[in-house]
Amino acid sequence: MVDVKELIKKMTLREKLGQMTQLDGFYFSESSAVTGPISEMNISEDDILLLGSVLGTTGASQTTRIQKRHMEKSRLAIPLLFMADVIHGYRTIFPIPLALGCTWDPELVEQAMAAAAKEASVAGVHVNFSPMVDMVRDPRWGRVMETTGEDPYLNSLFAKAFVKAYQGSSYDVPYTLAACVKHFAGYGGAEAGRDYNTVELSNYTLRDQYLPAYKAAVDAGCDMVMTSFNTLDGVPSTANTWLLREVLRNEWGFNGVVISDWGAVKEIIAHGVAEDGKEAVLKSITAGTNIEMMTSTYLNWGEKLVEEGLLDEALIDEAVERILELKVKLGLFENPYRYADTEKEKEIILCKEHRELAYETAVQSLVLLKNDDDILPLDAANKKIALIGPFAESRSILGGWSCEGRDEEAVSIKEGLEAILPADSLFIAKGCDIEEGTDQDIADAVRLAEKCDVIIAALGEHAGMSGEAGSRAFLTLPGRQQELLDALYSTGKKVIVVLFNGRPLDLRPIVEHSAAVLEAWFPGTEGGNAIASVLLGKKAPSGRLTMSFPYTVGQIPVYYNHLNTGRPKLVDTIENRFCSAFLDIPNKPLFPFGYGLTYTTFEYADIKLDNNMLTPDSVIRVSAVVKNTGSRAGVETVQLYIRDITGSRSRPVKELKGFERIELQPGEARKVTFDITEDMLKFTRLDGKFDSEAGRFTAMIGPNAEDTLSVDFILDK
Ligand code: GLC
Repeated sequence: MVDVKELIKKMTLREKLGQMTQLDGFYFSESSAVTGPISEMNISEDDILLLGSVLGTTGASQTTRIQKRHMEKSRLAIPLLFMADVIHGYRTIFPIPLALGCTWDPELVEQAMAAAAKEASVAGVHVNFSPMVDMVRDPRWGRVMETTGEDPYLNSLFAKAFVKAYQGSSYDVPYTLAACVKHFAGYGGAEAGRDYNTVELSNYTLRDQYLPAYKAAVDAGCDMVMTSFNTLDGVPSTANTWLLREVLRNEWGFNGVVISDWGAVKEIIAHGVAEDGKEAVLKSITAGTNIEMMTSTYLNWGEKLVEEGLLDEALIDEAVERILELKVKLGLFENPYRYADTEKEKEIILCKEHRELAYETAVQSLVLLKNDDDILPLDAANKKIALIGPFAESRSILGGWSCEGRDEEAVSIKEGLEAILPADSLFIAKGCDIEEGTDQDIADAVRLAEKCDVIIAALGEHAGMSGEAGSRAFLTLPGRQQELLDALYSTGKKVIVVLFNGRPLDLRPIVEHSAAVLEAWFPGTEGGNAIASVLLGKKAPSGRLTMSFPYTVGQIPVYYNHLNTGRPKLVDTIENRFCSAFLDIPNKPLFPFGYGLTYTTFEYADIKLDNNMLTPDSVIRVSAVVKNTGSRAGVETVQLYIRDITGSRSRPVKELKGFERIELQPGEARKVTFDITEDMLKFTRLDGKFDSEAGRFTAMIGPNAEDTLSVDFILDK
């Protein structure tokens, strides 16, 4: 076993700074093409042999080649860490995380992400820049596609599931890799949903809404944290000593590695918090950012700062020790190639089991938003079905951050339908592209649709319209798609809309001109099979929204766990003008958090408590009876919300505190029970303590954040 402290004693200061620097795999190639870019970083080709980690290079042969050369040529032969973004799959691509969240099934998602880790590990990846757990309330922000939604509790459960999936019980367990939770912290709060924009959060909101999921990842043992591009209280996260030392290290006990996001060290200058690279390095290392990603200021300025007595080398040793400890933990000193294996790649990548898992998660991530007259599941017998739209035959359904995923390996909705439908029952026309379209194409599509019995319209955004730097100010369908939908609707045929998108959209015009709407997000490699199974009734939809869909973009931010304000809008009329409301739209979102339909209906009744007095050392139980009142079996996600009526600070009108997915046969009723403990009622009080406060509470049970039964209880302490 390597003695890290002894190894550090042998290292030169520049070698230490090299360990703290990560560059893209491009810089490790031996071609002359790198000479220019290396010199632009004001480092030498010899410096490449000092580096500690590689960004974004995957593939067993690629990573092995780079590692082998590094181990042979570098003075101390300290193995490289290979890090990559395997956000929702490596080559077998699962639904985007915002869709994975809609499964409300952390166990299933843990299985799926373990499969992703397996593929990434045999491809030579050691650290995965996932989970992304940024809490979000603004769908204009393109990176909502990477997160599991607007709720701290649900995001925390998923954060834990992702970390467990990647890291397993130990790195000795084959195909595990280190998780890197990101982006710490509060990145999802970018003003106006404009990426990289300023974040202004009260300490109360930061701690109780935005931080919990990062903490859940740290508590689950996550070995790396990535800093976010934004400022908090005007201080860039990468240079934020309060965030990185006080909160992350001292309060949460994190002792892993902190890595900056891409270029975020140097961006401290653009933030106006450092005069130059030298000051950026001083602030970043002092704050506790151990690895600089994709810039070379640590190498450019680190030695000078130490020589001038401005930077204590002990801070550098601290960073290097954490980096080396992670390499020891991953077993890299014993085996620098870890699980990289070209034969295993052939056996594991895109294997049948992984595709089946991709199918299952895609099915469970689909959210049925509208289903007039139970047009779905579609009775396709002896029917001519028109499949129209830019996504009708498209395999570009993997979404952003799809790593090594290949569109050509995905199953389109056309292929999924053809696999189930009788031959010659599908009639296809694109109608328009995602952003462009001609009158002729629209007319041709309408003419085709008029000859059919029912229309499936496959519409949406292309993957580049969400993800990093993918902010949109208009949330309507791009291009002429709405015009196409309106024309199809005007034929008088029933229109079923299937949506491919990376964010909640402004769906009103779509809902008004369709009989059914199925939110498919970017469903991944098996998307077409999953969608076809649900449309045709092989599977029933069970997804539930984890992010509110706004009534219109002007309503944003809109989220379920909002404060009551001093003038809540109690009824949806304009009479009471002087309340917190708009003159021209309702306060409620178009579709609320937790919402989703299936192919049956459920009734909730008989909510009750076994005791309406809770104390710090007691548990009370709240229950309700849920009945399947339809004619098909169905999965219902029964949700528990709690409201703290009065506190030292204003408290959310409700907060998700539990849920249970249950399957009920037609006519079957089941009592669903949740435990309530004092621990669930804790929050950041006015005195700064994270604790509960005695008083009145309401427990609510329902199918989503809006339609709930409620019952009151008291916390006595
Ligand atoms: C990007 C992203 C981050 C990603 C990193 C490495 O800028 O912000 O999520 O992990 O660079 O690719």
